[in-house]
Amino acid sequence: MRIDIISIFPDYFAPLQLSLIGKAIEDGLLDVHVHDLRDWTHDRHRTVDDTPYGGGAGMVMKPEPWGEALDALLNSYGPVDDGHRPVLLMPSPSGRLFTQDLAIELADEPQIAFVCGRYEGIDHRVVEWARQRFDVTEVSLGDYVLNGGEVAALAIIESVVRLIPGVIGNPLSLVEESHSAATDHLLEYPVFTKPASWRGFDVPEVLLSGHHGRIAQWRHEQSVEITSQRRPDLLS
Ligand code: ADE
Repeated sequence: MRIDIISIFPDYFAPLQLSLIGKAIEDGLLDVHVHDLRDWTHDRHRTVDDTPYGGGAGMVMKPEPWGEALDALLNSYGPVDDGHRPVLLMPSPSGRLFTQDLAIELADEPQIAFVCGRYEGIDHRVVEWARQRFDVTEVSLGDYVLNGGEVAALAIIESVVRLIPGVIGNPLSLVEESHSAATDHLLEYPVFTKPASWRGFDVPEVLLSGHHGRIAQWRHEQSVEITSQRRPDLLS
């Protein structure tokens, strides 16, 4: 998979060199290109923002650098498969909620690009223009506001890349985790390791029983209980 990220803070993405994602890059499973939006400005101050039409607080990202950056991205892709427009993700608190289902869909894509806005957002015409050339999704991590799209892009990249075959050593560990279809999208049950007793807290007896049927039943009950307490919306 190829991932392109356009941001005014390319240094934010240094952690992609670490851990499983860094290994995926080393192994050639992933090709990451981070671009500085200011490379597509033409003034001395490398300006990327301006005051909003209609007034209001804060600044808005100018369309011109984004247009040029996305032109360059499209050119670098070369011809894409018939009818398959490249995926462009625009992190935004007003986007569609990012979910594991979307991560699973994205893990099949040959290329994904991220546009990381800052300030009060990007001039809306960039989204309209991009929709004609890319498969655009404005995507939100949740009902809270970050300072920009960089942290959201990092989170999305981590959740997608770990699903690419070969990235996680034991693919079975992907099957029984929270939000997965195999466990009816329930939250994951609690896990324990040795020692069996620690600071007065004991591992539940059933997990020491070696009885696979009872263990599976206990884990399912725990998942249902935790989901009903913390995320009743997921049960429906
Ligand atoms: N940018 C700012 N807040 C965001 C959020 N909640 N999700 C995605 N991108 C954002």
